[in-house]
Amino acid sequence: MKAAQINKYGGSEVVEINKNSPKPAAPRGQLLVEVYAAGVNPIDWKIREGYIPLKFPATLGGDFSGFVADIGEGVSGFKKGLEVYGYASVLGGGSGSFAEFVLADTKFIAVKPKTITHIEAGALPLTGVSAWQALVDHIGISRGKKILIHGGAGGIGSIAIQLARHLGAYVATTVSAKDMEYVKELGADEAIDYKNQKFEDMLHNYDAVFDTVGSETYIRSFKVLKKGGTIVSMLEQPRPELMEQYGVNAIGQLTQVNSERLSKLAELIDQRVTKVHVDKTFPLEQAGEALEYLKSGHLRGKVVLKMKKN
Ligand SMILES: NC(=O)c1ccc[n+]([C@@H]2O[C@H](COP(=O)([O-])OP(=O)(O)OC[C@H]3O[C@@H](n4cnc5c(N)ncnc54)[C@H](OP(=O)(O)O)[C@@H]3O)[C@@H](O)[C@H]2O)c1
Repeated sequence: MKAAQINKYGGSEVVEINKNSPKPAAPRGQLLVEVYAAGVNPIDWKIREGYIPLKFPATLGGDFSGFVADIGEGVSGFKKGLEVYGYASVLGGGSGSFAEFVLADTKFIAVKPKTITHIEAGALPLTGVSAWQALVDHIGISRGKKILIHGGAGGIGSIAIQLARHLGAYVATTVSAKDMEYVKELGADEAIDYKNQKFEDMLHNYDAVFDTVGSETYIRSFKVLKKGGTIVSMLEQPRPELMEQYGVNAIGQLTQVNSERLSKLAELIDQRVTKVHVDKTFPLEQAGEALEYLKSGHLRGKVVLKMKKN
């Protein structure tokens, strides 16, 4: 089978398409999934560049949507041909989803949402679960609460806006000027141009901040919160001195994609609460280009690798 792999760290030039990667049989507790589409996330180019040590050769990718092709011993509740989606990064014991087939533990898989395509479903697992985990599990967002979501046009931010609005919150978000209308269409009440406006001078007494950007954006965000508020960051670890100074709770999130969260997301998608926006698709053979395209930034929605021609 074909797989996009690396044998050393670097830029898009280190991504090789191995046409003879062995197609595995599903071991105990796992499924072999024929991949239809695989979403590309910032973590994939960070892995390629060596932010996290790996054993080589390593197949890139985590997100996928496809069909069950083989079922390991001890697995129940799945049958061959079932449409599923999930996460299978080599970092979490999967075989990497930028390939024609992927092995994944059933703990990280759920039935694919029925009302969207495999390309949309393949774009959803890591971003959708990140938004869910932050808003529902950490912040407990609810009707009438005010939340600032940084990076509202990004993969995680765009889902977070829709989810927060569905749960009844008032949503402010930071974006580039070109994305102001886009995030309003997603449901944001207020959009702030992060290059030309200072969000900390405009927003006060917020219940929560969801930070998908990090660094100085994270530090400035404490000023927006009311006492007892919560900030969840996808990139920064809590700073006790800032928590104490502002009297707020800070959480550094490590997203854990699991079947339960994926199934809840699928329900929301099928109830048309949340849409997935795809910026561009690439064939598997152009995995290196897809990673560079995502890294270059200023996209609106997700980048997805498509393994099937139709
Ligand atoms: N901790 C974890 O477990 C975990 C899990 C998943 C993701 N992450 C991390 O979370 C981050 C976001 O992921 P993603 O998939 O949403 O990335 P993404 O799709 O690349 O989106 C990032 C968004 O941030 C915007 N942005 C950049 N600088 C900004 C600023 N100063 N203020 C406001 N917005 C800004 C970008 O807009 P422009 O392009 O217009 O500038 C873009 O829309 C990544 O760094 C990723 O690695 C962490």
